[in-house]
Amino acid sequence: MPIMKVMESSLTVVILAAGLGTRMRSKKAKVLHKVGGRTQVENVVHSALMVTTPDRIFVVTGHQAETVEGVLAPLGVGFFRQTEQKGTGHALRMGEAQLAHLPGRLVVLYGDTPLLSEATLRALLARHDESGAAATVITTMLADPTGYGRIVLDEAGDIAAIVEQKAATPEQLKIEEINSGIYCFDAPLLWKHIGEIGTNNPAGEYYLTDMIEILRRAGHRATTLRVSDPSELMGINSRVELAIVDRILRERKTMELMLSGVTIEKPETVTIDAAVQVGRDTIIGPFVQLLGATTIGEDCYIGACSIVTDSKIADGVEINPFSMVGTSVIETGAHIGPYARLRMENHVEAGAHIGNFVELKKTRLGAGAKSMHLAYLGDSSIGAKSNIGAGTITCNYDGKKKSKTKVGAGTFVGSNSTLVAPVEIGDAAYVAAGSVITKDVPADALAFGRSHQTNKEGYAKKIRER
Ligand code: UD1
Ligand code: CA
Repeated sequence: MPIMKVMESSLTVVILAAGLGTRMRSKKAKVLHKVGGRTQVENVVHSALMVTTPDRIFVVTGHQAETVEGVLAPLGVGFFRQTEQKGTGHALRMGEAQLAHLPGRLVVLYGDTPLLSEATLRALLARHDESGAAATVITTMLADPTGYGRIVLDEAGDIAAIVEQKAATPEQLKIEEINSGIYCFDAPLLWKHIGEIGTNNPAGEYYLTDMIEILRRAGHRATTLRVSDPSELMGINSRVELAIVDRILRERKTMELMLSGVTIEKPETVTIDAAVQVGRDTIIGPFVQLLGATTIGEDCYIGACSIVTDSKIADGVEINPFSMVGTSVIETGAHIGPYARLRMENHVEAGAHIGNFVELKKTRLGAGAKSMHLAYLGDSSIGAKSNIGAGTITCNYDGKKKSKTKVGAGTFVGSNSTLVAPVEIGDAAYVAAGSVITKDVPADALAFGRSHQTNKEGYAKKIRER
């Protein structure tokens, strides 16, 4: 077996995510709050997935466990329940029965530290392997270390202890080197001694950080990987930190896209979720939001302030400013907006045009079809190359149920037409402007659905002179 495989198979990751996060002042568990477009804990699992496989990743859940497990289940990771939150040391013990037999290394991550990079995680593993220590802790120097555990070193530069803020002496509070909460343990030694963690501290909790002193007492070493950029170790405890971390993740995403060939105007203003993909030479305007599972092809233009959610946009599509696109598919070369709203489950075929103040819902617009101004097309299908005039409305709802409208190919629907569903208009038909269409129109027919005009000669003049 190649050496890399052996090393990977000896690595297990446990993510602690059972806490409520009192400092968030929220009904929702802290790790469910989103940063960069996905929950904090999803971000942490993605960090873990960069160094090991899903079957070797375990998440300790507690507060809103069902929801947290539901969010993470698609990623294929395992779970341990911690029904009472008695501290980080207690949380890790929830995995003891299942994991205690595993050899190799055990990495612990906290569910509220979502910025960790693959490079740092790999550096931790390398440091752990070369030092031969029983535990390796990622640390960094902070000018303001308030709230974090402080790293107490011995003369040799190894860690003697981690002292929590609440338990620290005034002298220890001055230490600027902090515990990131990211550890690599020698797994058999961890499980051998984890039962020695007690609750003799001001919070009365089982602190995982006590493992350092415990391992040393048993004659082992603990060492640090000190990283110089503290930003990726930031733990989220309040909504202020949530916003700071969100901003960092958004910056990373725009940076990654720009380096891969996407132009982003005023990147500091756009919001692009982690899973979004964008093709080369696409231009993204200021204040654009690309959310959820959106993919965008090459050579597209997404105009300022447009919002695209869970949609699939092909190559060469133009979405002009202030448009909203939700759960829709847009094919090559289509033009949308400005000020268009594609609400949900629409399918816009190649080269179709949708103009300003046009709303689509569950509608399929055929290739090259046009609806350029002020229309509502709901539960409808419009054939290729048809033209939907300004002010056309599909009346898809009678107060009780929704009905469908079908317009054939090459059909012309005149301005201000009202199409009362269910109704079908055939291929190459012509609907006169201002019609109310309540009956089907056959192919090639001209439908008039309005009263005839009468002109009374000279009548206006007569009124004026009265
Ligand atoms: C912890 C560390 C501290 C470190 C900091 C880094 C301890 C005792 N302290 O403090 O040294 O500087 O992180 O961000 O570990 N959790 C559970 N079950 C529990 C308690 C916590 O699963 O019973 C989870 C939480 O959901 C959270 C993580 O563990 O994801 C960390 O808990 P938190 O309370 O935020 O620890 P800190 O006080 O930040
Ligand atoms: Ca924390």
